[in-house]
Amino acid sequence: MEVTLTPQELSQYNGRDPSKPIYVAIKGRIFDVTTGKSFYGPEGSYSMFAGKDASRALGKMSKSDEDISPSIDDLTEKEMGVLNDWEKKFEAKYPIIGRVVCGGNAAEDILPCSLELQSCKSIYGKTEALDGEEVKSFQHNDVVLSLQSTR
Ligand code: HEM
Repeated sequence: MEVTLTPQELSQYNGRDPSKPIYVAIKGRIFDVTTGKSFYGPEGSYSMFAGKDASRALGKMSKSDEDISPSIDDLTEKEMGVLNDWEKKFEAKYPIIGRVVCGGNAAEDILPCSLELQSCKSIYGKTEALDGEEVKSFQHNDVVLSLQSTR
């Protein structure tokens, strides 16, 4: 079953809790890299990618904090090629367990009330309502908003 995790939820799978799997996302697709614990576990040389969408860092062959980000719009063609090679390597080596979404539920997604969510959405696009859930109205700052479902 495909899981959907927000960036915040994804960050819990950073290898620091040994009872949890370790995830790394590329272009919003989440790979279970637990078998690569020696790379991504707390002692690994690539632990900074664990629990993150590391697309930008992989494309730029960088481990710098500022590059550990899903944003790849401004990568050069060469960097995109490097990223695509990493993606292929991961596809061959690790199972894909799901994808990164913005906002944990449809209501949050429809009402872009946080900037963080906005910037997340500009990268991952519009989140589909989860489980076909229909959102007709919900409470926000004491105002009941009526909404169209996203599907
Ligand atoms: C002098 C610099 C570097 C050397 C010598 C080096 C060397 C290596 C080696 C030997 C492996 C193990 C490959 C394997 O056993 O499959 C590896 C894996 C890896 N390297 Fe580097 N690396 C360097 C820099 C970087 C940088 C800057 C990045 C940033 C994107 C990077 C990203 C990775 C990743 C993500 C893996 C793990 C791939 C997997 O999960 O199988 N490396 N590196």
